[in-house]
Amino acid sequence: MDFLPFATGAILDNCVFAPAPWRWTRDELTKLLASGQSELFYHRPDQARVDLWRRVQRVDVTRGAGIEAFRKKSPAQRVVEINDAAAELTRILYEQPLTAAAVAKGEAIAGEMIRAIKEDPGSVAAIGKLARHDDYTYYHSARVAAYSLSIAVSMSLTDNERLRAIALGCLFHDVGKSRIALDVLHKPGALTPDEWELMRRHPSFGIELVEAAPNPVFDQTAREIILHHHEKIAGGGYPHGISGQEIVKEVRIASFADMFDALTTARPYQVSRTRYEALDLIRHKLMPNVDADVYKAVVELFGKGSA
Ligand SMILES: [Fe+2]
Ligand SMILES: [Fe+2]
Repeated sequence: MDFLPFATGAILDNCVFAPAPWRWTRDELTKLLASGQSELFYHRPDQARVDLWRRVQRVDVTRGAGIEAFRKKSPAQRVVEINDAAAELTRILYEQPLTAAAVAKGEAIAGEMIRAIKEDPGSVAAIGKLARHDDYTYYHSARVAAYSLSIAVSMSLTDNERLRAIALGCLFHDVGKSRIALDVLHKPGALTPDEWELMRRHPSFGIELVEAAPNPVFDQTAREIILHHHEKIAGGGYPHGISGQEIVKEVRIASFADMFDALTTARPYQVSRTRYEALDLIRHKLMPNVDADVYKAVVELFGKGSA
């Protein structure tokens, strides 16, 4: 359909028409689809954008069951299903540009994750046991978000705005890696100096991407997480080499979760550790780079000999 012949919003036989160059807004499209319209006509050059929009819309934490039925499930079950949806969204972010629809979907996922983890911070134990290398790229950000929310709630950071910033920052913390070729991201051996230099730029790429995104949902804290999740408490991290209290609490939580997920997931160059082994390794080898309060919270969540 190259042109749209009817008045704005005209509905005929369950099809919706609009005159060119009318552009449906996201809200209008959402309402139209929710009202059961089975077909929308759009300008042919917009095909790729519409396909992407549809692909993002299909990411659904409820798997079509509706939000009320979904919220009746246990927090642990919900966290697992939310992680699947977040992984699918991450896959789209690696393959397609960051759009307003994708950011909005990230917000919805963050909201459900906060709800489940506030109900039961221990529900996070349900994720990660099946962490595998081939899932890592897409599931990693979802797990980092879930771990970070559980740590935050365990540390009595329960303000919803703060949790929302943590969840969004973590879900998008590695979005800058979408600018790095998959063969570099997945390289089984050591990176060359040039490849490593490129990898070290992913936090800055991430900030550029979210700043170019149309929705202003990434507040200062969420941006701090994206930009500084590879900084270290003792200094020497990247991109800015800041240290100690210069790294805000939420970032210290997120970077712990980031490291913890990397340690407990099988990768091309390492077998996965149990959570207990990872905490042991952190205590003996990595403690100068870790916030002691965050470590304590994670020990309380996972440390009692759990796998
Ligand atoms: Fe990262
Ligand atoms: Fe990461």
